[in-house]
Amino acid sequence: MSAGRQGASLRRALVTGASSGIGEATARALSRAGYRVVLLARREAELERVRASLAEPDTHLCVPCDLRDAASVAAALSQVRAHFGALDLVVQNAAHGYLARVEEYEPALLRSLVATNVTAVLDVARESLPLLRAGERPVMVLVSSIVARRGIPGQVAYAASKAALSSIGEGLRIEWAGDGIAVCLLDIGLTRTAFFANQPNPGRLRGPDISAADSPERVAGEILALDRHPEPERWLSWKWRALSLLGLLSPRLSDRYLVRRMGGGWSTPGR
Ligand SMILES: NC(=O)c1ccc[n+]([C@@H]2O[C@H](COP(=O)([O-])OP(=O)(O)OC[C@H]3O[C@@H](n4cnc5c(N)ncnc54)[C@H](OP(=O)(O)O)[C@@H]3O)[C@@H](O)[C@H]2O)c1
Repeated sequence: MSAGRQGASLRRALVTGASSGIGEATARALSRAGYRVVLLARREAELERVRASLAEPDTHLCVPCDLRDAASVAAALSQVRAHFGALDLVVQNAAHGYLARVEEYEPALLRSLVATNVTAVLDVARESLPLLRAGERPVMVLVSSIVARRGIPGQVAYAASKAALSSIGEGLRIEWAGDGIAVCLLDIGLTRTAFFANQPNPGRLRGPDISAADSPERVAGEILALDRHPEPERWLSWKWRALSLLGLLSPRLSDRYLVRRMGGGWSTPGR
């Protein structure tokens, strides 16, 4: 075992959305650091592909699960309990976007977004609580976004779902303080994954340019760092943090800056 693996050996982690992007990179970073990882997402073949690429593949567990179904979430966490007995780290990372104007929203897709990005986070929190209580130095990381505290056009529902995550993180970290469970919000910026290609975009709105975006490995490193040294909230972009504060102090100024920065033909509100 390498020196890097010794400190965290035997730590047990659940990563939702582990079949691609940031979840996949996180599973890899955790396995390299000696964690045993539960990989959860819908696509079993992708989960198995990721598991096969991890350090010591046989020590990890794939749990195919559609997080939109509460009964499946409960069954998944029962499987984790039977296999690992407890959890030391839960990374709530699964989510999907929706690039569209509100008038284009399809009700079923909108409900899927809320079910995946918000309701499932609460379901996973409830079902993993007994396992975290039984864990060592337990931590939950909520993978959020720089748009959590500043609404944006074209991604209204997605940004609202991440705003809900901020509220969940703030409430839970106090609710769970008595159990010694740290709850961390991680507000990440543009990251090079298939997230933007995967999201519904019925009106072909212009998505962001991700050529200079962060790598999923960088975000995975931040998740590992939060497990080692939990913080209530970590931002990966000081500019968006400043914009969120500006939104509270002067909504008009914040709108003007945002419209200029985003481009894409949006207009600054005049009244
Ligand atoms: N990429 C960015 O620029 C960016 C920026 C800010 C925040 N984020 C956040 O980062 C997190 C990870 O996104 P990513 O960029 O890595 O995107 P991604 O590659 O599209 O990953 C999304 C993951 O969520 C899983 N998932 C989606 N719906 C699910 C469901 N119903 N049940 C179970 N799993 C489900 C997907 O797996 P299956 O399809 O196999 O189910 C996939 O593993 C998300 O919370 C996202 O909001 C990303």
